[in-house]
Amino acid sequence: MPGFPNLTVLDHPLILHKLSYLRHRETPKKLFKELVEEIAGFMAYEVTRDLVLKEVPIETPLESMVAQRTRHENPVIVPILRAGLGMVEGIVRLVPGARVGHIGLYRNEETLQPVEYYCKIPPPEGRDFILVDPMLATGGSASAAVRFLKDRGVESLRFMCIVAAPEGVQRMDRDHPEVPIFTAALDRELNENGYILPGLGDAGDRLFGTK
Ligand code: PRP
Ligand code: URA
Repeated sequence: MPGFPNLTVLDHPLILHKLSYLRHRETPKKLFKELVEEIAGFMAYEVTRDLVLKEVPIETPLESMVAQRTRHENPVIVPILRAGLGMVEGIVRLVPGARVGHIGLYRNEETLQPVEYYCKIPPPEGRDFILVDPMLATGGSASAAVRFLKDRGVESLRFMCIVAAPEGVQRMDRDHPEVPIFTAALDRELNENGYILPGLGDAGDRLFGTK
């Protein structure tokens, strides 16, 4: 994407259609959750396009052949708690062998700084990690989560969100220029409280009904 070398915007018509309902203020919690899952599933096709394959001999009804399957240990999905949890099922439905790690982070509403409270991931050697969070706003949470994963030995890493702000993409490009970012939409800007405009509001609250 011009100006954002590491960003891929997955603006497939079906994703944009679902995103219009996700953004709508009247969309109820149940539908919001389903839409996050479905959009994450669609996006996962592209995000996993270069997954490593292995060759397996199989028998078709007509003859033997060497087919290709994904390596079972790939990839590892790591949601940033809480809102990232909403994306996991949609991806795992597509890649049932995927493992799931967790990173607990919340954004201090006054300082907008991320605070880590949990991290549990499988051994990173030889595994491709996909960090997921619906929202990339200031980029503080995603950048800190990438830092935590790198500190724990993760080398192959990509980040997947649903709505990104230019400020967050720039922050990630600056802090982690080698990490590809995939989003369904690149929105206009952040407001004075760090919310994405036009955005979809607070993803965690809308997913879990906490407001
Ligand atoms: C939201 C969102 C991201 C973060 C993005 O989580 O899910 O993790 O804010 O903002 P940033 O790019 O400015 O860091 P929040 O901190 O509200 O926690 P929650 O998932 O528990 O609602
Ligand atoms: N976190 C959210 O959930 N929404 C935003 O717009 C920004 C950060």
